[in-house]
Amino acid sequence: MSKRVAILISGGGSNMVSLVRSMTGAHPARPCLVLANSAGAGGLARAADLGVETAVVDHRPFGGDRAAFEDALTARLEEAAPDIICLAGFMRILTEGFVSHWHGRMLNIHPSLLPLYRGLDTHARALAAGDRTHGCTVHEVTPELDDGPILGKALVPVLPGDTPETLAARVLEKEHLLYPAVLRRFAAGDRTPVTL
Ligand code: GRF
Repeated sequence: MSKRVAILISGGGSNMVSLVRSMTGAHPARPCLVLANSAGAGGLARAADLGVETAVVDHRPFGGDRAAFEDALTARLEEAAPDIICLAGFMRILTEGFVSHWHGRMLNIHPSLLPLYRGLDTHARALAAGDRTHGCTVHEVTPELDDGPILGKALVPVLPGDTPETLAARVLEKEHLLYPAVLRRFAAGDRTPVTL
């Protein structure tokens, strides 16, 4: 039976689109829900166009109460009964309670070669460090931010004259290849890291 995949987004959802498009034919998984933490997330309309059920759990009414927001998130996710959760540009820090609940079932993509540059502004930081190679990483989510077992990496050259924007665009192209490749393997029960 196909694995059910829920994808969490906050923005345009280009990684979400590449994941959804990949789950066809003999792929061991199918998308069951795209969930955003804001009704303004551009990816919601793209998911609906692709025929995937969408939902919004807005974090703002919960104020600073992360645990209450995450309880609402878990309740909505459980309705969709996912086997796997893919964070794809989901811009909320998740607490240990939520992460433990989904332990071993939640993946994230991060736009750097982890363990380098956890957190934000990864492209500017790679440029400031003079790195000649940059890239992206898919990892299993653990309570530590941008940590957890690495399931795949894609390398991207830093070119003369790169700005954070040009570099981000080159990395994003690789993200769209890496995340589907890792998900396919992970959904088949294979955690061998993918290298692109
Ligand atoms: C990607 O760069 C991803 O690595 C980061 O947020 C961005 C999301 O882009 N976590 P999109 O919404 O998938 O287009």
